[in-house]
Amino acid sequence: MFLVTGATGQIGRRIIRLLREEEQAARGFVRLDSNYSEIEQRGADIFIGELTEEKDIAKACQDVKYVISAHGSGGNAQALDYRANVDLIDQAKAQGVEHFVYISVLGAQRGYEDSPTFKAKREVEKYLQKSGLNYTILQPSGLASDLIPLAERLRDTGFYLIIGDPKNRTSIVSPDDLAKIAIDAVKIEAAKNQIFPVGGPEVLKREEIPEILGRIFNREPLVVNVPLFVLDGVRDGIGLIDPETQKSLGTLRIISGNEFFCTETEINQLETTFNMKMESLESFITRYLGT
Ligand SMILES: NC(=O)c1ccc[n+]([C@@H]2O[C@H](COP(=O)([O-])OP(=O)(O)OC[C@H]3O[C@@H](n4cnc5c(N)ncnc54)[C@H](OP(=O)(O)O)[C@@H]3O)[C@@H](O)[C@H]2O)c1
Repeated sequence: MFLVTGATGQIGRRIIRLLREEEQAARGFVRLDSNYSEIEQRGADIFIGELTEEKDIAKACQDVKYVISAHGSGGNAQALDYRANVDLIDQAKAQGVEHFVYISVLGAQRGYEDSPTFKAKREVEKYLQKSGLNYTILQPSGLASDLIPLAERLRDTGFYLIIGDPKNRTSIVSPDDLAKIAIDAVKIEAAKNQIFPVGGPEVLKREEIPEILGRIFNREPLVVNVPLFVLDGVRDGIGLIDPETQKSLGTLRIISGNEFFCTETEINQLETTFNMKMESLESFITRYLGT
């Protein structure tokens, strides 16, 4: 039995989908108000709980062989990115789980002070590495599925928004590839106790993304580039009335202001270890939105 947290999220629901296609037993950790009908229809065992409740985590881990932690934080990094993962690791250890797969983030080790999520991911990586559990840590760059709303806007209006330097590089990854890697990590010996940066097959400058989308939809993109100082100004303004929201925008500031890409060597290693070819952004968007 696999336990998947964040089972209704972009990555989690694809993990459940693949597991069920392989006829593997899967338990999705969901909240009562989550949209979980799709994964239920696929035959997943539905566990309703709160990741902030240690007793729920303990119950969810019963009779589980593999854990895949794929939940987000909804702005509460301390409770969900950090504490919930530490509790999951402790419970996995206590209940004899064979392998723990953790979805971290590319660049977690850079120690970005401005983002509690990045800091939590790094601390959880360290905690998992010291836990004694078999583990695989996956560090994805940006997900191609996050670009679907931007692609739809470009298709319908031509507009595309870039915050920060358009020359910054990224390796957009297909969440379908990431889901497959997360599942295969427990079967492949060379993936045991390893950290893998996970990106798409090409390193793209952010300004190349609207060009790709424009090609797919046969539409000239109108790129609006918002400089970082505008985001900083907005954040400072928000901070005067709502310091919590200002803090939670820290992750957006980090993502907008830095490069997140995988090297050719890292992608080669990933493709060799998992015996697969990573999907390009163009292929992913064409598959989901057509032309
Ligand atoms: N998106 C990216 O570009 C990206 C890049 C690198 C790493 N990652 C990491 O990958 C992981 C998954 O990302 P994603 O984009 O798939 O996330 P997502 O689509 O935003 O989904 C988040 C999931 O977490 C669940 N969740 C949030 N709070 C919860 C709580 N209190 N109790 C139980 N479940 C809760 C959500 O459930 P509900 O359906 O109930 O809201 C949802 O299933 C995250 O750890 C993220 O940091 C994402």
